Order: sequence, then C-alpha cells, then structure tokens
Amino acid sequence: MSNPGMNKESHMSQDMNGLRVAITGGTSGLGLALVRELLDRGARVAFVARNTEGVERVARERSDAHGIVGDVSQKEDIYPIAIQVLGALGGVDVLVNNASSLGPVPLVPLADTECEDLELALATNVLGPFRLTKALLGALAASARGGRHALVVNVSTDAALNAYPNWGAYSTSKAALHHLSRIWDEELTPEGIRVVSIDPGDMDTPMHALAVPDADRSTLKRPDVAAREVADLIAAVQSVATAGHAAADQEVLQ
Ligand SMILES: NC(=O)c1ccc[n+]([C@@H]2O[C@H](COP(=O)([O-])OP(=O)(O)OC[C@H]3O[C@@H](n4cnc5c(N)ncnc54)[C@H](OP(=O)(O)O)[C@@H]3O)[C@@H](O)[C@H]2O)c1
Repeated sequence: MSNPGMNKESHMSQDMNGLRVAITGGTSGLGLALVRELLDRGARVAFVARNTEGVERVARERSDAHGIVGDVSQKEDIYPIAIQVLGALGGVDVLVNNASSLGPVPLVPLADTECEDLELALATNVLGPFRLTKALLGALAASARGGRHALVVNVSTDAALNAYPNWGAYSTSKAALHHLSRIWDEELTPEGIRVVSIDPGDMDTPMHALAVPDADRSTLKRPDVAAREVADLIAAVQSVATAGHAAADQEVLQ
C-alpha cells in the first residue's frame, strides 16, 4: 500500500486555532494518534468508538477531547453521535470517517466469506460514513458559509484499488467509500465542502495485526506518523482557501 503524497514524514505544524474535528474510531491506531495530534495542534476534537472503556480511557488521557460511545455501523446510533458531536463542539468543520471493519477475520477468499461479514464491512465502511456525513452536512455547510474550509476525510486503503486475494469484503467496501468520496467531492465542492479519500499506508495497529498476524511490524508505518500526515492534509485544505483542489489533491488516494 502506498500513496506518494502521504509517505514523507512531514514537519508542518500549523496552529489549528479551534478547528472543530469529529473522528470516528478514535480509541486505537490511526484514530487515536489523530485525536492526540489534532489536539496538540490546537483543534477541538470529538471522537467516537463502540467500547465504553476505550472511550473513557482516551477521555481520561486527553480531558480536552470529547468522547462519544457509538457504533457507526448501526443506523440508530448515527443521529445520537451527530447530536453529541454538535453539542460538544458547537458545530463541525472536519469529519474524519476512520472507523472500519475488516469483514471476516482471519481473512478468507470471497467464496468463503459469509454474507453477514460482507454486510458488516459495508455497514461500517460505507453506510456509516455516508449516514454520518449526511447527518453532519448542514453543520459542515454552515462551517463553509462561516469561512472555514469544511472537509470530510474518508480513510480508505490501496486495497480499494488493487485486487488482493482474501481482502474481498474489506476492499469492496473501501472501493465503494473511495468512489462515494469522489462523487461527493464533485457535488459538494461548489458548497465549499471538500470530500477526500486517503490511503494512510500499512500501519502498525491492532487492525493490521488482526489482518496480517505474521507481518514484520518493524516494516510498518507508526500510526503517529500517519496521523501527522493526515493532520497536514487537513491543515493544507484549510490554507487552500477557495483555490480549489490543488493542495489536497496531491495527498488523496489516486
Ligand atoms: N492499519 C493499516 O495498515 C491500514 C492500512 C490502510 C488503511 N487503514 C485504515 O485506517 C483506518 C484506521 O485503521 P486502524 O488500523 O487504526 O484501526 P484500529 O487500530 O483497529 O482502530 C479502529 C478504531 O475504530 C473503532 N471502531 C471500529 N469499528 C467501529 C464502529 N463500527 N463504530 C465506531 N467505532 C468503531 C475502534 O474502537 P471500538 O472497537 O471500541 O469501536 C477503534 O477505535 C481504517 O479505516 C482502516 O481501514 C489501515
């Protein structure tokens, strides 16, 4: 998995000046690293995860973050999540749809994939981001009207574009998320809202360990490095003003 724009270690460190950011999957891996990185840069952050203890643990570590317990794969959780995000932050400028399901674990060929595992991958990786984005669209549009550069970051993978055996459920859902992002970006850019799909690269996280248990962890990217790159992308979009797609497009999944 690679993405030229996302691979270099960055030294950018912008003051995010109260930028209001919602992150799904904020208690582990990339999401947790992003919660820390964005808070350190001066953003206000609300994060979501299913496990109450995990949310409480991160909220204890970073009392400046607002933790929300919710499951993005569950339709009935979406409005409660959105309402808590807006209640905590008073609006939202950036939504990071990062929470994800691998589908069947251990990974198996499509012929051995249960329909329910494909459904779970689609519910978590496509419908969840779709519903949450829709629920927050009015607030994102208000952010854009207020002069911020509203942004939705959908965390995808190079497996959305490449056909790796055994990664069928996950890859299919991420391919849908990637294309959803492209279409939504075309539709919403005129409203001042950008939607990008990114590949963070192979990271040393619990999800990677589940998918590839025998991986050499020393070869994997640290999630805090990927988080700095995502934060740089968010900062770049904020600084692009209405100049269009230029800076952010260098970073998104090609
Ligand atoms: N790791 C890699 O090598 C890699 C490579 C390419 C792309 N990615 C993408 O990067 C993103 C982050 O992956 P990661 O490796 O950092 O994952 P991770 O370490 O497994 O963390 C996943 C986070 O999402 C939460 N979560 C999972 N399902 C959820 C749901 N239905 N609703 C709300 N929260 C949920 C988890 O907490 P709870 O369990 O408490 O809900 C946890 O906070 C994912 O989109 C993944 O597809 C990862």
